[in-house]
Amino acid sequence: MSGDKNHDLKGFGSRAVHSGTNHIGDAVNTPIFQSSTYKLTDERYAGWAEGAQHTLLYARLSSVNSDAVAQKLTALEGGEDAEVFASGMAAISTTLMSFLSSGDHIVASPDVYGGTYGLLTEELPRFGIETTMTDMRDPAAYEAAIQPNTKILYIETLTNPVLKVCDIPAMVEIAKRHNLLCIIDNTFASPWACQPLSMGVDLVIHSTTKYLGGHSDIIGGAVVGSKELIAEIFPRKVHFGGSPDPHNCYLLERGMRTLHVRMPVLSNNASILAQRLESHPLIEKVNHPSLHSHEDYEVAKRVMPKGTGMVAFVVKGGDVAALKFMRGLNIIYEATSLGGVESLIECPFNSSHMMIPEEVRHAAGLVPGFVRMSIGIEDVEDLWADIESALSKV
Ligand SMILES: Cc1ncc(COP(=O)(O)O)c(C=O)c1O
Repeated sequence: MSGDKNHDLKGFGSRAVHSGTNHIGDAVNTPIFQSSTYKLTDERYAGWAEGAQHTLLYARLSSVNSDAVAQKLTALEGGEDAEVFASGMAAISTTLMSFLSSGDHIVASPDVYGGTYGLLTEELPRFGIETTMTDMRDPAAYEAAIQPNTKILYIETLTNPVLKVCDIPAMVEIAKRHNLLCIIDNTFASPWACQPLSMGVDLVIHSTTKYLGGHSDIIGGAVVGSKELIAEIFPRKVHFGGSPDPHNCYLLERGMRTLHVRMPVLSNNASILAQRLESHPLIEKVNHPSLHSHEDYEVAKRVMPKGTGMVAFVVKGGDVAALKFMRGLNIIYEATSLGGVESLIECPFNSSHMMIPEEVRHAAGLVPGFVRMSIGIEDVEDLWADIESALSKV
């Protein structure tokens, strides 16, 4: 790789600012190095012969900007290496296809991200790869679902949109005992809130579109882990082709440099709003891992004690009331996606989870009136005023 390593910096914030940044031309950041290809030199030919990972040859393989981002994320997650992708789904599909062949089996949960659910249930079976879906809240159920041909335990730090918290160390222990890869999607937590590699997870995936990018202006993905596992993924990234453009990586790196400043603000905002919502007469139930009432409060204290900006709650009066509330908001926008500096809200029943049958949604806790908010870094009193005012119109 070509950027500054600086992995040894102690502080998370210092690593967010400095690790991986490539000071080309004495720039203080990594400039946008917009080139699809690079002049071939003897050194580059040699790099190619060795497998080409992080050798500047052609931007589908790697680029100055993708290398900078890969190094920064490696430093933030505490890994050895990373690969970056054009989307979170490119990261997930390429990673899974790197370790699975026809006849293999995965254990996952029915409330994984919708795109991942589609990949596991609609695409992978066409290649002879089957998934058993069971409750991520229940490590024993995951263990019971393991078959002789199981290769991967697939988990998410926090489920979407119910915000169940996964007991990562318990899942890791099961994966190790059965000699399986444990792969986690850490998008909803970000490496600021949770570093699953330190708990023994093998590979950490992100949709960098969310907290890492942080400004709702890019689509991207990444996977971090050991050098050995990332070296397995790299050739598949080259073959499947879900590689990011240098400009996209530049924006991602710029976002990552302030991750440690944004996350405490939005996580604190979310905790305050969750508490206030919990005592509002028009709210039936609130899900946020900082609340004592959250079913996974104790697990959350262990695996992601710093919290998250995601809050889910149920408006009394069902979906009609939830829609009315949502459309009465002024500075919290109705939009799908999350993790940006601005607060966003959605009703899963008519957006992210529209394709899931109603009875399955209800069984998963997506009862009528359910809304999901991604809290941003606005002033919390402005957010609360907006919420109170919209609720008063329901
Ligand atoms: C938890 C999670 N993982 C993966 C993805 C997919 O990421 P992308 O939209 O960048 O492909 C998303 C998107 O919303 C997500 O929420």
